[in-house]
Amino acid sequence: MKLAIAVLGTGRMGSALARALLGAGHEVTVWNRTPAKTGPLAALGAVVAPSVAEAVAAGAVVIVNVSDYDATAALLREASVAPALDGKLVVELTSGTPQGAREAGGWAAAQGAAYPDGAIMATPDFIGTEAGTILFAGSSQAFEANKPVFLALGGNVQHVGEDAGLANALDSALLGLMWGALFGTLNAIAVCQAEGVALGMLGRLWQTLVPVIDGQVADLIKRNETGRLASDEQSFASIATHHHAFEHLLVVMQARKIDLGVVLGQDSLFRRALAAGRGEDDFAALSRFMIKRD
Ligand SMILES: NC(=O)c1ccc[n+]([C@@H]2O[C@H](COP(=O)([O-])OP(=O)(O)OC[C@H]3O[C@@H](n4cnc5c(N)ncnc54)[C@H](OP(=O)(O)O)[C@@H]3O)[C@@H](O)[C@H]2O)c1
Repeated sequence: MKLAIAVLGTGRMGSALARALLGAGHEVTVWNRTPAKTGPLAALGAVVAPSVAEAVAAGAVVIVNVSDYDATAALLREASVAPALDGKLVVELTSGTPQGAREAGGWAAAQGAAYPDGAIMATPDFIGTEAGTILFAGSSQAFEANKPVFLALGGNVQHVGEDAGLANALDSALLGLMWGALFGTLNAIAVCQAEGVALGMLGRLWQTLVPVIDGQVADLIKRNETGRLASDEQSFASIATHHHAFEHLLVVMQARKIDLGVVLGQDSLFRRALAAGRGEDDFAALSRFMIKRD
């Protein structure tokens, strides 16, 4: 079914969302704080609204993709806008925190709006493709009833739970995993450059290590899921064994005056586990030291 959909925010991601919806044949009305950015969408058939209130009035579905939840609140909690949300589907695709999504979900419900909170796990080029992943949290009924709209945005749209904060929680968790890999890569580049290793070789060896690291990440998650934190016959390595090798990284980085900011946090976690006598536990047991207990 073709729907009237308003898209608030047409930056890089909002434009990709609007393009995908136009491509799926929906009637799309766009609004952007800087009107010039809506030009390419108008050329594709979008209606450009001169105000948020007019965009919201035009859509049965209101998709928001701006910089943060404060910006969303400033747009939607206006006297000329909020009452018009009654009975609409408001889809927040701006990145935010779990707490922000729960608060926004409560506010939207008080206006009479259904509020699936989405987390886009993709760059704009994936939007509208089979491989586009978007997580949705909040009312599963609202998600299921509007799934065709969401499927226009990405082939891998998933409802992750009734709690509106869950999509953002997963977003932060998965981005944390991504940054772990990206900051680790910065360490690796710095070590190679300092030690005269060609970066092409680093790139090739990384490819061969991917399955090894992939297996360790999966094992780490599984062991925490099932509580298998002690070392056993299937353990790949203990905390102490990891730390011995990790100390070599610290030595080379110190000797070459490479910034230790990222690795010192990791070293501190190792040291707290070792001081607590957990050195022979599986690496997975480091998770015990991730939560601060006052
Ligand atoms: N790009 C990605 O790969 C990606 C991936 C996943 C999630 N996201 C999320 O998608 C959201 C948008 O990202 P983006 O890459 O599209 O950023 P962007 O290109 O910088 O666009 C930001 C958008 O937010 C609008 N905006 C910012 N502050 C505003 C305010 N106070 N009031 C009204 N509108 C405001 C901007 O309007 P103006 O044009 O007037 O500045 C623009 O439309 C972010 O939450 C981001 O984390 C992005």
